[in-house]
Amino acid sequence: MSYKEVYANWKSDPEGFWMQAAEAIDWDQKPTQALTQKGEGLFEWFADSKVNTCWNAVDRHVEAGHGDRVAIIYDSPVTNSKRNITFAELQDKVARLAGALRAQGVEKGDRVLIYMPMVPEALQAMLACGRIGAIHSVVFGGFAANELAVRIDDAKPKAILAASCGIEPGRVVEYKPLLDGAIEAATHKPTFCAILQREQKTADLIEGRDLDWAEFQQGVTPAECLPVEGNHPSYILYTSGTTGQPKGVIRHTAGQLVALNWTMKAIYNVAPDDVFWAASDVGWVVGHSYICYGPLIHGNTTVVFEGKPVGTPDAGTFWRVISEHKVTSFFTAPTAFRAVKREDPTGALVKDYDLSSLKQVYLAGERADPDTIEWAQTQLGVPVIDHWWQTETGWAIAANPLGIEELPIKLGSPAVPMPGYDVEILDDAGHPVAAGELGAIAIKLPLPPGTLPTLWNAEERFKSSYLNTFPGYYETGDAGMKDEEGYLYIMARTDDVINVAGHRLSTGAMEEVLANHPDVAECAVIGVSDALKGQMPVGFLCLNAGVDRPQDDVVREVVQLVRQQIGPVAAFKMATVVDRLPKTRSGKILRGTMAAIADETAWKMPATIDDPAILDEITVALKGIGLAGA
Ligand code: COA
Ligand code: AMP
Repeated sequence: MSYKEVYANWKSDPEGFWMQAAEAIDWDQKPTQALTQKGEGLFEWFADSKVNTCWNAVDRHVEAGHGDRVAIIYDSPVTNSKRNITFAELQDKVARLAGALRAQGVEKGDRVLIYMPMVPEALQAMLACGRIGAIHSVVFGGFAANELAVRIDDAKPKAILAASCGIEPGRVVEYKPLLDGAIEAATHKPTFCAILQREQKTADLIEGRDLDWAEFQQGVTPAECLPVEGNHPSYILYTSGTTGQPKGVIRHTAGQLVALNWTMKAIYNVAPDDVFWAASDVGWVVGHSYICYGPLIHGNTTVVFEGKPVGTPDAGTFWRVISEHKVTSFFTAPTAFRAVKREDPTGALVKDYDLSSLKQVYLAGERADPDTIEWAQTQLGVPVIDHWWQTETGWAIAANPLGIEELPIKLGSPAVPMPGYDVEILDDAGHPVAAGELGAIAIKLPLPPGTLPTLWNAEERFKSSYLNTFPGYYETGDAGMKDEEGYLYIMARTDDVINVAGHRLSTGAMEEVLANHPDVAECAVIGVSDALKGQMPVGFLCLNAGVDRPQDDVVREVVQLVRQQIGPVAAFKMATVVDRLPKTRSGKILRGTMAAIADETAWKMPATIDDPAILDEITVALKGIGLAGA
């Protein structure tokens, strides 16, 4: 069947389409109904079913006689170690960890926060939660204690599972002091923490609260899989929104199982037993969907890679891992390829490896620039597929579905909507615009299985963030267009979210940090184009009257503050002091215009600007920090 036929099939009978996809899942109680409407704009999939995530990701493969197949390949150039874990071993480890959690009082519906680097234990922790119906919330290691505290207070975890440290090139990141600081700062306190001690830096345990990872699993009764309702949350994953308070995206159990399993063949073109590698981090949605759940549910081997595209030890690492582990489908962010390309523009290192196993490459997380795609395609000789999705959707909204049909690649476009997504480009009034015209990208409700049904304990915020602007639609927060053939082009965010090295960050959250500096009266943060990371944040500071300290000191301090309060991942390194910020007459800061000046892209003088002369001052300030054609 062609893509067009599959998409038309879905459109003519969406519920039937997903009920059929649901046949590939092992149910404890089959759903009798696919979709349930819970309220205005609120939908749930397979709500009346009973099912277990861990059973589908692990146990059923052992049951089917595939216990000896490798489930996880751990490859860690930063610790010089490699390890394979079979499905049977994984079942054993996960059942024991789940048993230990249960023995400490963790029950169905309890939240468990996971703060771990790229080690197999992170996946085991996620799966162990699913095994007993606990709801996990993984926090990315590059966030600072304060961000962790915000998530602890929102998710209110009974337990925290953490590692003693993570390893970044050239430094060991001690997780435990960050964790201790976060728990101290948070109002909610977990009942206990279990700490995976890594030899690179072991942590001091706090008596009465912290347990040793290995010890707390000793002698426990392994836990069986507990069937949960299809609409039971599998996890909460926090993502950046407009403010400093992140949004707790939740994912329901059954929808996730059905949708991710469907994508493995249709989009990623792998058969069970193929090796699938997403070079991301468990702290991001890509890590949830395509390092942990998708591949394992589908019976693929997944690669847990603890390293970087460059420097661990060189720009040939990706190719080494692909050739050594016979990776079939590889998923990374464009920024990673740009980093590799910068060090090895001619692909000399590619030629050192046998990449014959590799059939296709996928890019997401940020706009894939045509140069990067072409470079990768030339080097690797396989299709390089841009696909577009978000933490909220959990899987691709638009892609080139190689497992259904390879569509012609149009550079700059993540191709076409996947079944489940009816994508429209809307004008400000919510009317669809003509092909080729720019607008807000929205998806007709209901969203498909595996997407967010709501936000954790924040239904009103869910509605105001995603549903209220365009009634009947989910607002993606991205702007773009559709061409005559239905290919989508994703151009920019419509909100204050920026994308730095494939990491989604909120400029609003950074502004909140800057505004807290005692010398800062007013501030703005914008994202400017960056050849490597896609975008980089830049801060503008207006200082309080009477501040007579060197401005460079204030700049240094705010850079440090963002690192301390949001984390190194914010990559906030550039700021400048200005007298005034450009605003509209109603007082709205013209961030878009400032970004256009910095990027030297075409811009129009906003009709509502209060004082156009301020833009000249902004240009001078940008030149002062090496931007705006300095
Ligand atoms: N724990 C602690 N610190 C972390 C971290 C983690 N898990 N991940 C990143 N950091 C730190 C880095 O060490 C760096 O710190 P520094 O300011 O002291 O140098 C900072 O956060 C910024 O990191 P990063 O954005 O990764 O930049 P980089 O310069 O270290 O590396 C790339 C650049 C392009 C190689 C890297 O960003 C990369 O691999 N990107 C791909 C991202 C990706 O796969 N995203 C997933 C979406 S699919
Ligand atoms: P995240 O929730 O971190 O996955 O970030 C999602 C956002 O990243 C999207 O809303 C887009 O703004 C951007 N994004 C992700 N994939 C793509 C892509 N293929 N092309 C353009 N932008 C993308």
